[in-house]
Amino acid sequence: MVKLADNALMVLKERYLQKGTSGSADETPEELFRRVARGIAAAERKWGGEKEVNNWTESFFEVMKRLAFLPNSPTLMNTGTVAGQLSACFVLPVVDSLESIFSTLKQAALIHQKGGGTGFNFSQLRPKGDPVYTSGGYASGPVSFMKIFDAASAHVKQGGKRSGANMGILNADHPDIEEFISAKKGLGNLQNFNISVGITDAFMKAVYGNAPWDLIHPNNRKVIKTLESGNLWNQIVENALLYGDPGLIFLDTIHSKNPTPGLGKINATNPCGEVPLMPYESCNLGSINLSKMTIGGSVDWFGLEKTIDIAIRFLDDVIEVNQYPNPKIRKITYRNRKIGLGVMGWAEMLIKLGIPYDTQEAVELASRLMHFIQEKSKASSRSLAMIRGPFPNWEKSIYYPNEPLRNATCTSIAPTGTISVIADTSSSIEPLFALAYQRMHVLNDDTLTTVNRQFLDYLYEHHHDVNSILESVFEKGTCDDITSLPTPIRSLFKTALEISPEWHLKHQVAFQRYTDNAVSKTINLPESASHNVVDELYKMAWEHKAKGITVFRNSPKGKKVLNLGVKG
Ligand code: CDP
Repeated sequence: MVKLADNALMVLKERYLQKGTSGSADETPEELFRRVARGIAAAERKWGGEKEVNNWTESFFEVMKRLAFLPNSPTLMNTGTVAGQLSACFVLPVVDSLESIFSTLKQAALIHQKGGGTGFNFSQLRPKGDPVYTSGGYASGPVSFMKIFDAASAHVKQGGKRSGANMGILNADHPDIEEFISAKKGLGNLQNFNISVGITDAFMKAVYGNAPWDLIHPNNRKVIKTLESGNLWNQIVENALLYGDPGLIFLDTIHSKNPTPGLGKINATNPCGEVPLMPYESCNLGSINLSKMTIGGSVDWFGLEKTIDIAIRFLDDVIEVNQYPNPKIRKITYRNRKIGLGVMGWAEMLIKLGIPYDTQEAVELASRLMHFIQEKSKASSRSLAMIRGPFPNWEKSIYYPNEPLRNATCTSIAPTGTISVIADTSSSIEPLFALAYQRMHVLNDDTLTTVNRQFLDYLYEHHHDVNSILESVFEKGTCDDITSLPTPIRSLFKTALEISPEWHLKHQVAFQRYTDNAVSKTINLPESASHNVVDELYKMAWEHKAKGITVFRNSPKGKKVLNLGVKG
């Protein structure tokens, strides 16, 4: 029997279990994991016989049943069904012609319909007010096209299962950058978009040196306007503080780590930022549940290694059985074979190890752990390459000729917004959000109540007045001011807003150091956070080689609800 928490069951019933003709769930969670295991292991037939297929079906089933590893939502929802699209992440091109813009919009709608998210860089579009020779009119500019994409996403409710998520990027030297930076201002604007400014090292150097900054026409490369770089920077910081957007994407850092630089630049990511991709690339994700990877108060390195090996094989198999939205996406995905193995339950692992989140010890373990996951993932991908061959673009990659790998990227830290609820653990590498809280369901406004299991266990073991402690925790969501609890316990159970933004960023950077793709992390800010805090964090993120950064201030104007997976 698969053992699941109440919240997990509710989420599964709503959106993941296959429905019968009556419309109610026809599938048990155990049957879901079987369907997925069998559907993914079918890929093994290409290299082995029925025995391999059966063995891997069992291995895949077993890790999912134990909630030790889960693939991204589209794989859970769609494997073995007519939908068949298993990836969460796509990037599509936006070229400066009406025909191509609307062709991309159509592709995005079809991806959303089956539970995937899309990222775009709009910087190739001519600026607002530029002449349009075919019509004799004037261009409406990138932000106005983003609004069309946003409206389309709102209508395609991702097959009734998810609301459409997008990442919209505009580079800092685009003439419309100021309009873009404040595009989220005002109620309901671009609700289905996370937006980020594409930042180059040259821009950061201009900001540090107080130099002027040219805005350049994307087609003829003429300087349209010159701004004070510091002024533009302050606009970014101010809007991020007020609305949580824009985030930043560090294009040169991404490029310096691009595994296939010979194929072209990467200028966009998927919606939550964890996967930088070239146009038409897709990536499927999976996450190891770290709360299941401890043994007797220490990290279970052996169990972790075994799980990594199964997970990498699983994700490589997904590429084989996946049904792609169009032939271009299929072609480049096959040629680069990017996958993204990440983690969830990091905060719960730290609690099990007795290490508070905001300590150097935690950050050092983050690096060590991700280094291990990275090395073992590569080892598994290498073994697969020996049998299945390296990814077809391998000869054009940074790995040629010394390291034949099956996959151009192996690791990525996703937000795990929904799969962490299914696994009943803390999401991604985030600290506990609260010790007790309600999540609002994205589709029907139902609320799911959660009390942290480890905190409850601690209380039942050590305290007589559990109810009065819980009452106070229900009110505030934290235990920081409950003086009847020992100080080390209050430190261990600190929640996201009690942890300073610098510590949030330190964890992001530690994980990023050993992640091929990128890290999706929300840097929580207290409501009282100032302009300077965001200014420093955004600069620190660039200096420490993060690939991007997003902040979230707990404020009435900001995004209030911890929703299932996507900010905004
Ligand atoms: O937990 P789950 O697998 O549902 O997703 P996640 O880890 O929270 O998000 C992973 C990726 O799925 C995001 O970066 C998006 O690319 C995509 N996603 C989406 O398109 N729409 C959503 N509502 C949630 C996630």
